[in-house]
Amino acid sequence: MIGKIKELAKKYEKEIIETRRRFHQNPETSWKEVETTKYIAETLKKLGCENIKVGFGGTQCGVTAEIVGKPGANEKCVALRADIDALPLKDEKDVPYKSQNENATHACGHDAHTAMLLAAARILTDIKADLKGKVRLLFQPAEEHGVNPGAKALVDGGAMEGVDAVFGIHVMSTTPSGEFWYRVGPFMAAADGWELTISGKGGHGSTPETAIDPTIAAGQIIGAFQSIVAREVSAKDTAVVSIGGVKTSSFVFNIIPERAEMNGSVRTFRPEVQDHVEEAMKRIVDGVCAGTRCRGEFKYSRFLPATINEEKTTLLAKSVAEELFGAAKVKESPLNMGSEDFSYYSRIAPSAFAYLGTASAEKKSDMPHHSPKFDVDESVLFMGAAMHAAFAWSCLEGKK
Ligand code: NI
Repeated sequence: MIGKIKELAKKYEKEIIETRRRFHQNPETSWKEVETTKYIAETLKKLGCENIKVGFGGTQCGVTAEIVGKPGANEKCVALRADIDALPLKDEKDVPYKSQNENATHACGHDAHTAMLLAAARILTDIKADLKGKVRLLFQPAEEHGVNPGAKALVDGGAMEGVDAVFGIHVMSTTPSGEFWYRVGPFMAAADGWELTISGKGGHGSTPETAIDPTIAAGQIIGAFQSIVAREVSAKDTAVVSIGGVKTSSFVFNIIPERAEMNGSVRTFRPEVQDHVEEAMKRIVDGVCAGTRCRGEFKYSRFLPATINEEKTTLLAKSVAEELFGAAKVKESPLNMGSEDFSYYSRIAPSAFAYLGTASAEKKSDMPHHSPKFDVDESVLFMGAAMHAAFAWSCLEGKK
């Protein structure tokens, strides 16, 4: 069956590329994917998908639908996910399918994800009679939003109810074209942010004893924050604590300012490490502020959880990929400090999130993600469609 799925994907290759270019020319940014959503929903309707739901998070954006296999075969449900949003960026490529929207570009490959999953829907419809369960398609808005992630809206809207396994692919312009990269366990980092206001008492620079200087506390906190990863996180774990900005309420040579403000970000993989870093930062702020007679207000926000791949699901994806791509093209990925809202699904059901390499210097598809010249090597897109469909079929066969 995996051979047949690959043949079908190859048969639909031209259509996959055309669909990807259609989305590329008509990009829509996070929570504005109204036309993209309409196109996806219409395509799924024509294919005969069931339970089509349109609009998540109180918007008209995002679609979920199901392909229901043999009646009564089993109750198993596999979810396949594509994110559909573009970035607020001007397209600087010189290609016939350049973005027609001055203010948006598919500079992360989500147009490719959408086209691959639509093609997978078509393949799965073709082999519907052989599916031992159902496949739920998740076309998710607003992956790039950060603060209001589309994945969370889908989860809140019930998109993950009854799901036994979830799979997702990200095209990758740093991975050689045609390679499939998987990783068991922690894969992409949790992304958190923090803000700190240190209040003291302003005064004259010549008489600090009449003031309470928040810059002294700020300086000590900056140093102490860097000791968290160095001294409190095991060398076998990974974490980053970064300071994004430091400013004072006045910036005059002979004035002691009233307040100092800072912000920054934290990246971690394991929830235990994430909890520890947050606690340590609060403890340092409280301790230093008490010691320097300042008042500290610390706000820590968890934006995106870490993407953790479940072992059996990921090894199934690996073996399916080996059959499709050939073992030489399937590799273990290193950890990635970037973040993905796919993590909201991976917290609910056993998951596998993987990379499909699209980097080719010849095809100019090796520019960084989110750069205005980002492009994908379209010759690998049929493999992404095949991978989605073959994973779903294998999972429903009970191969996990
Ligand atoms: Ni992306």
